Amino acid sequence: MVGVSADHLSVYDAIRLRRDVRAEFSGELVDDATLWRILDAAHRAPSVGNSQPWDFVVVRREQTLRAFAAHVADKRVQFRDSLPPERAATFDPIKIDGIIESGTGVVVTHDDSRGGPQILGRASVPETGVYSTVLAIQNLWLAATAEQVGVGWVSFYDPEFLRALVDLPDGIKPVAWLCVGPVREFQQVPDLERFGWRSGRALTEAVHHETFGG
Ligand SMILES: Cc1cc2nc3c(=O)[nH]c(=O)nc-3n(C[C@H](O)[C@H](O)[C@H](O)COP(=O)(O)O)c2cc1C
Repeated sequence: MVGVSADHLSVYDAIRLRRDVRAEFSGELVDDATLWRILDAAHRAPSVGNSQPWDFVVVRREQTLRAFAAHVADKRVQFRDSLPPERAATFDPIKIDGIIESGTGVVVTHDDSRGGPQILGRASVPETGVYSTVLAIQNLWLAATAEQVGVGWVSFYDPEFLRALVDLPDGIKPVAWLCVGPVREFQQVPDLERFGWRSGRALTEAVHHETFGG
């Protein structure tokens, strides 16, 4: 890792080093103690009304990983076929998951009924529930980075397929499949930028003063 030991990573270091990882998984499994620390970090996320609407399904069974990888491969082909030829050519070399190589999937789910009907702070903005679950994912992602563990978010799936695959009860919504595993290195530039799919924009374009047009 570029000049910093995991023990001494500041939160800014972790934010800077974090990458969506697909091709850099080392092939080793993340050990249980490390995985638990990462999940503990996720579970410390802020949540609307302290509802903690997330759950984490840890998947390691090879049959399940292979079934999900095959489904994701189909969805990748569907997306690829929807693209105009020039975009399809740019997309072709881009890897979109490390489901098999990481050896561990963490399915993050959301339960809107967690905490009962009176969620403090959710009354007029219902999405705050899902926002909370997504914050847990970001905590997980940064903690993993500090542990030299990579995370890759996979969203090329039909929610109903994933629901059936990991047997989610009614009312529990899958939010993400995260590939989690030790990495050889973190890329310094996001894959989508390296492969010419889409570059980021400058902070100066994102910050506005007083009004959105200001
Ligand atoms: C909600 C969400 C869904 C994503 N889904 C995928 C995905 O299915 N496959 C993939 O390769 N990357 C996925 N990504 C990763 C993004 O492509 C990545 O975060 C972005 O290109 C910036 O790169 P970086 O995370 O390395 O900075 C997803 C990211 C988010 C936040």
